[in-house]
This record gives sequence, C-alpha cells and structure tokens, in this order.
Amino acid sequence: MLTNDQQINLMLTQVRTHLAQNTQPIGFFGHGIDFLAQAEAWRSFDERLLHHFPALIRELNQVYGERSDFLEFVQSLVLAAYVSWQQRSPLLKAQDATRETTPDWFASEQMVGGVCYVDLFAGNLQGVVAQIPYFKELGLTYLHLMPLFKCPEGQSDGGYAVSSYREVNPQLGAIEDLAAVAAALKAAGITLVVDFIFNHTSNEHFWAREALVGNPLYQDFYYIYPNRTVPDAFDATVREIFPDQHAGAFSQLDDGRWVWTTFNSFQWDLNYSNPATFTAMAQEMLFIANLGVDILRMDAVAFIWKKLGTDCENLPEAHALIRAFNTVARIAAPSLLFKSEAIVHPDKVVEYISSDECQLSYNPLQMALLWNSLATREVNLLEQALERRHNLPAHTAWVNYVRCHDDIGWTFADEDAAEFGINGFSHRQFLNQFYVNRFEGSFARGVPFQDNPQTGDCRISGMCASLVGLEQQDAYAVDRIALLYSVALSSGGLPLIYLGDEVGTLNDYDYVNDAHKASDSRWVHRPRVDVSRYAQRYEAGTDAAMVFGRLRRMIQVRQGTPALGGTQLTVFHTHNPHVLAYWRGVEDGERVLVLCNFSEFAQSVAAETLIALPSLLVDLLSGQSVLVGSGVTLSAYQVLWLSVPPQLS
Ligand code: GLC
Ligand code: GLC
Repeated sequence: MLTNDQQINLMLTQVRTHLAQNTQPIGFFGHGIDFLAQAEAWRSFDERLLHHFPALIRELNQVYGERSDFLEFVQSLVLAAYVSWQQRSPLLKAQDATRETTPDWFASEQMVGGVCYVDLFAGNLQGVVAQIPYFKELGLTYLHLMPLFKCPEGQSDGGYAVSSYREVNPQLGAIEDLAAVAAALKAAGITLVVDFIFNHTSNEHFWAREALVGNPLYQDFYYIYPNRTVPDAFDATVREIFPDQHAGAFSQLDDGRWVWTTFNSFQWDLNYSNPATFTAMAQEMLFIANLGVDILRMDAVAFIWKKLGTDCENLPEAHALIRAFNTVARIAAPSLLFKSEAIVHPDKVVEYISSDECQLSYNPLQMALLWNSLATREVNLLEQALERRHNLPAHTAWVNYVRCHDDIGWTFADEDAAEFGINGFSHRQFLNQFYVNRFEGSFARGVPFQDNPQTGDCRISGMCASLVGLEQQDAYAVDRIALLYSVALSSGGLPLIYLGDEVGTLNDYDYVNDAHKASDSRWVHRPRVDVSRYAQRYEAGTDAAMVFGRLRRMIQVRQGTPALGGTQLTVFHTHNPHVLAYWRGVEDGERVLVLCNFSEFAQSVAAETLIALPSLLVDLLSGQSVLVGSGVTLSAYQVLWLSVPPQLS
C-alpha cells in the first residue's frame, strides 16, 4: 500500500525506467516510422505521465494497492498506454492540444446531440457518412452511434454484448469504416460518441471462450463459481436488473458452474479485482479512442465493482476504477471524455460526475420528471430537481434527453417526493399505469418493461411520440413533444435527440414477431428509420413536418443564443403549479426566461410575480413580442423563451 509522495515518486522512477527499457519506435495507423516524431511522442508522453502519475496511482492504489504485483501491474499499464500514444494520429494529437485550452467546449450553445442505431438509421457505417448532410440540416454537433462492435448473432442486447472491441459488427462494416466515419464527422464539425461497454463482455468474446474451457488466465477475467455458495451469498443483497431474463445476478453454464451476469445470461460481468482485466480494458479503451472517437459513453458504471453484503452498485472502488480509466485517457488520449450512464438514485448519479471522472452524464432525473410532469400536469418535482440537483461542478455537464434506447425508470428520490406528500412507491405505480394506458384518460401508449410482480417494480418502454398521444392523433401530441424537448434544449448542458423523435416516429410493435427481441419490450422504441416520415418533414400539415419544424426552430434559436449555453440554471417560481420557469444566462449578459405550461389548459403567471421584468419582451421561439406587464397567459402546453436584455434584467 502506497502512503506518501516519496513512495509514489520512487514508483514513478521505476515505471519510467521500465518504459525506457521496453519501448520501441512504432509507426502509427498506416504510416512508417518517423524518428523525430517518435522522440516527440516520448517527450509529450513523459510530460503527461509526470503530471498525471500521482493521480493514477492514488486511484489504482485504492483497488490494487495491497497486491504484491502492484508495481508490475502499473508498469505494464503505462507501457500499454505509451504504445497507444505512439499510435495516436497527428490529427488527434492536434485536437488533444486544442481541446485542452477549451475544456468546456461540450457545454456550448452550439452543441446539439443525436443518437441512433447504425443499422436501423443508416443501414451501415457508410450509410452514416451519407447521412451527414441530414445531421447538419438538423443542427447536430454530436452523434452517438449505438453499439457497433462485434456481438453474437441473434440476441446481443442491442449490441451491448461485445465479442471484440477491435472489430465492428460485420453487418455494419469494418473497423476502417468506423475510423472513416469518425474522420468524416470531424470534418463536418460533429463529435463522435460510442459506447464503452466495460462492465461485461459477451459470452463469445475470446476471453470468455477461454474462461469457459478452463484457461486460468481468462477465468480470472470473470466471476465464475463452481457451485451456488458464493452466488447465493451475493444474490441475498443485489438488485435484479432483468428479472424477466433470469433470477438473481448469476447464470448457470452448461458445465454446471455459475457466472456473474448482471444483465442477460450472455453478458458476463468483468472481474476488475483482477488488475489484468483493468489493463486489458484500458487497452481496448485507447484503441477505440485512437479511431477518432471523442466521447465514450461509459455503460452501466454503477455495476463494475462487487462486494459481498452490499447491493454491488455505486461502490467506492467503481469510482476509483473510472477515475483510473479517466487518468489513463488524460495520459494517452487527452481529448477523450467520458459520459456516465448511471440510472440510479439521484444522489448516486452525481457521484460519477467530475472533471476527473465522467465529465458528462445522462440526466435521468430530469428525463423521468419531464414525463412525470406530463402525466400529473404538475411541475413540483421537476422544479425541485432543477433547484437542487441541476447545477454541476465546473467543466462538467448534463446530457439532457427525453427518450433513449432504454426504458424509462422512475428514478426520483422518494425523500424528495415525500416533501410534497407523494409516496414514491404508489406514485411509480401510477406512472406505470398512466404510461401503459391503464389509467383512464391517459394519452400514452407505452408498454411495460421488466414488470416484476414480486417487488412491484416496473419500468416502461415507448417512443416519445407514442407516449405523448400521437399514435391516436391526440390534439396536443405535437405540443407535448415540443414542450419536453424545449426543456432538454434550454435547461443547460448538452441536449440529446433520440433520432426519429424529431419527425414523430411511433412505436414499432413488430418486435414481438422476432424471437430474439420478443422478450425485451425496449424494441418497441427501436424502430427502423421511418423513411416516409423523414420525406414529409417539410410537407406542411403532416405530423412529421409539425414536429420537425418545432424542434428545428428550437435548435436554431438555441444555437443563436449564447445565454442558452453553459450549464447553470436558476429556477423562477411562477406560483402556478402547472408552469415551470427558469433563468438561463449570466447576470450581466442577455438572459433568457423559459416558461413552460405542462397542462392542456391555459395557465397564467400573475403580474406581481413578473414585476421585476420589463413590460415588453420578445419570445425567441415565435419572434413575437410578449406583454408581461399585466401577467402572462400561456396556452395549452405553450413554451416561451423570453429574451431579457442585459441592462434591464
Ligand atoms: C445499459 C444500456 C442497456 C443495456 C445495459 C447492459 O444500461 O443502456 O441498453 O441493456 O447497459 O449493457
Ligand atoms: C440498468 C441500467 C439502466 C438501464 C437498465 C436496462 O438499470 O443502469 O440504464 O435502463 O439497466 O433496462
């Protein structure tokens, strides 16, 4: 166990000596050896190593410090990082340098994200390149391509079971195509995001196949047990994530042994108590970064460390490991950023967010509470969350979204809800009923996901448009889509559009006819691109055009309004339970007051509430002047982005 700076310095010397003795010049992707460049590679790497080594050791020490082979482990990790740095292209190194001087680039008002499946949206990776003009038309500057690495045929959890991090799913293309997509997007000013699925691999990954046949080296990459003794002990305290797929956290292998599978039985959890697993995954991470990927979506972060007697979620070692991965990135792929996917209690979600852990994070609380407000027509919980849980530390940002490829889980804090006299358990039941259309008068057409009668837990699936009533042509459906996205686009952080939503794509009920998908209702909201809707996006009067027009307008306004950039927000109390409002922008600059009516009835904000405002303001969305002197009345689901000039605010 390392305890002081002196020991860390000694270790640094040992690591640098080892590195000097073991490094050889290497050509980067497709180029020959350039000795001058190699000398420069060494210099720049060494500089970063010196800078980040103490942090790296502090993190790794928390997990592996007691091991007798700690030094050897760190030596091989740093060597692997150097090899990867040598292979990083000059273009990416130039980007590393620029991004270092603009650490908040991802929170600019220019940033607008989209996410899609490569096959469903574009056919294959080349098809993604062909879609770049569309991405630009929409205003995207960030594109998350859903899992695209090699995975089992048939069931693969939508690609979240990776069989090789160095090969693309052959149906989508080859690894060179991915590098080409990254380069083409970069040239178009669009950053590329892909998943780093590092909690588990598929059972078809080389490591898993070796583990299965008893290779001890790879058996240690997973949690494999000869009988139920250890699994029973863990199962006593862990949560079931996919209870429809299997009970508990383990799956039985054909040979009778048990393997840890938090998700599906073909997704084997990696054993990070083995440092070789960390080194191996760090190499995979750097390989992906060197393809030109800007941001890694860190999948299932909550689950990567297990400890007997706990729920095995959000443990301190999980954080140390992610920070260690982050430090490896700072050393060998400096512009790479992490986005956390922690769909857990809001107190736990924020623990992953910091400039030295995950700079970005999904905002599952805002997402869930948007849907909550739509169902209840009340903004209380959403307003409370924005007030207490929205503002983040410097150099970090939320990724705000309305829908994604996963289910909607009601991840608000019961304690928060209790302050309004809301019982978390029964309220979640109401929300589930409402969104699967078992509640009288509901406009929603969702589908239950992982309904667990034993615990009463359930989540819901469904496309945005179907959840807001477009399927049955509810008169307010388009307004509801615009309302939800207006919050994602204006509340601070990086907005993310689930592609398809921008033209009002509906649920796809066909998934039940596919044996590999039928048992996972999330496929209801993973439709193939609806070509006819996209074709109608400028055809006045169509649903597609109405939704597209509203979203496109909001994106344009966002990108032209610096006050909507950045991350900080201040809640404005409207004293109307149906109207949410918040300030964006800084005190001495132009500010924007966002007002959103979450009900289908006209709602007013009284004159005395608005007394400090100038009496005439401009709504940036409609371009119209709004008289606020005698109060403001918003029509059903109306949104206003009121521009408040500096001298008057
Ligand atoms: C994440 C993904 C989800 C997947 C799971 C396992 O939660 O978003 O789709 O099933 O991880 O990889
Ligand atoms: C886990 C993930 C969450 C995902 C779910 C899959 O809870 O953390 O993101 O929604 O699994 O349904």
